[in-house]
Amino acid sequence: MQRKELLYSGKAKSVYITDDPKKLILHFRDDTSAFDGEHIERLARKGAVNNRFNAFIMQHLEKAGIPTHFERLLSNDESLVKRLDMIPIECVVRNFSAGSLCKRLGVEEGRELNPPIFEFFFKNDALHDPMVNLHHMLSFGWASADDARQMEDMSRKVNIYLGKLFLDAGLLLVDFKLEFGRYDGNLRLGDEFTPDGCRLWDRETRRKLDKDRFRRGLGGVVEAYEEVAARLGVDMEISSA
Ligand code: TMP
Ligand code: ASP
Repeated sequence: MQRKELLYSGKAKSVYITDDPKKLILHFRDDTSAFDGEHIERLARKGAVNNRFNAFIMQHLEKAGIPTHFERLLSNDESLVKRLDMIPIECVVRNFSAGSLCKRLGVEEGRELNPPIFEFFFKNDALHDPMVNLHHMLSFGWASADDARQMEDMSRKVNIYLGKLFLDAGLLLVDFKLEFGRYDGNLRLGDEFTPDGCRLWDRETRRKLDKDRFRRGLGGVVEAYEEVAARLGVDMEISSA
C-alpha cells in the first residue's frame, strides 16, 4: 500500500491518501494534546502503543459485530483503514462521573452511573466541543435521526462489550468517546479507541491509567498505556512491514 500525500493532520494522528481511493493510512504520532490543543507534548513510544492498542480494540469490536474502519496494521505506528465520510459528532458514554460531566453538573468524581449516560458533542476545538442534541444535528444537517439512533445503539453495544473486556483485565471503563462515518451508505466506527480518548481506572485502587495522567501532570503517561496494553494482552511485536 503506497502512502501518498497528507490529507489531514490532527492533534495526535496524521491521515494520508493511498493509491486506493477507498483506503487511508493513519499515522499515530507521539504528540499528546490536552485542553483542545492548548497543551501539546511529544511522549516517546505513545504513537506505537496507541497504534497497537487501537488495532487490538477495533479487531475485537469487529468480531463482536460492530462495523469499523480498521483494515490492518502496516507498521509500528501506521494502520490502513477504510476512508469514511465522517460525521462531525463525538459520542460519549459514561459509566462513572469524571471530567466535563463533573464540572457541568457539580458532581464529585467517581460516582457510578446507572444507567450509563450517553451524550453527543459537536467536534470543534475552537468552540471546545460543545454538547449538542438531536435537534442541533438535524437542523444543521450533521446527522439524520437514523444516524443518531445508530450511533447511540453502537456506542451502547461498544460499552457493554468493552466494559467486560476491561473489567476482566482489572480495569474500570469510566468513559469513552467514539466517532462514526459513512462508508458505502452504512455507518462504521472510525477514528481510534486508545487511552487518549477514554478513562480507565484500576478496578481496586482506582489509579488513573489514561490521558488524565497527562491532563493533570501526574507523569507516567505512556507507562500507564503500556500497563493497560499488557493487561489486555495487546501484541506489541511488529509482525508486518
Ligand atoms: P469529557 O469528560 O472531557 O467530556 O470526556 C469524556 C470522555 O471522552 C473522556 O474519556 C475523553 C473523551 N473525549 C475525547 O477524547 N475527546 C473529546 O474531544 C471529548 C469531548 C471527549
Ligand atoms: N479533546 C482531547 C482532550 O480533552 C484532546 C485535546 O483536548 O487536545 O484531551
